[in-house]
Amino acid sequence: MGYGVNADDSLKEEASQREDSKKEVLRMEIESRSENEEFARVAVAVFMSRMNPTMEEIDDVKTAVSEAVTNGIIHGYQGKEGIIYIEAAVEGRELSVSVRDKGVGIRDVKRAMEPMYTSDVTGERSGMGFSFMEAFMDEIEVLSEPGKGTQVIMKKQIGR
Ligand SMILES: Nc1ncnc2c1ncn2[C@@H]1O[C@H](COP(=O)(O)OP(=O)(O)O)[C@@H](O)[C@H]1O
Ligand SMILES: [Mg+2]
Repeated sequence: MGYGVNADDSLKEEASQREDSKKEVLRMEIESRSENEEFARVAVAVFMSRMNPTMEEIDDVKTAVSEAVTNGIIHGYQGKEGIIYIEAAVEGRELSVSVRDKGVGIRDVKRAMEPMYTSDVTGERSGMGFSFMEAFMDEIEVLSEPGKGTQVIMKKQIGR
């Protein structure tokens, strides 16, 4: 009996230690087709629901994820086959989302991120994707190398 009590105590302690540093992660790979963009956006929205977000926070994140994934499909892989790697993580009140492609990459990231800059010549793109990501998330970091691909890492505090 005494042994049982001790075991219970130590289990509780382990559980509470885990609670402090708990990071929950969702990893997804989608084929670079526009039909899959909605799936990525909704999956991240469902994943973040454990943070008890407001509708506005969910919409902000969905918009940012949608822009990043669409960029991977359209610009990164230029409509060709490829895989978009999505990782979402929750740690305390912070949500971070990484969207990565192994596509053409960006030569001048600073210029690409300027509002209304687009390399698109069809007139279909507004060049506001990065601006939306910046507006709707707290932080955005873009890592890219021509010929290697692009990774967008976005962070947002939920429920302040
Ligand atoms: N994943 C990516 N791979 C390659 N180029 C990209 C990627 N994401 C963005 N870009 C470049 O950055 C530009 C700006 O992106 P964005 O602000 O979303 O505007 P838009 O998509 O409307 O052109 C794009 O036109 C493209 O040249
Ligand atoms: Mg875009």
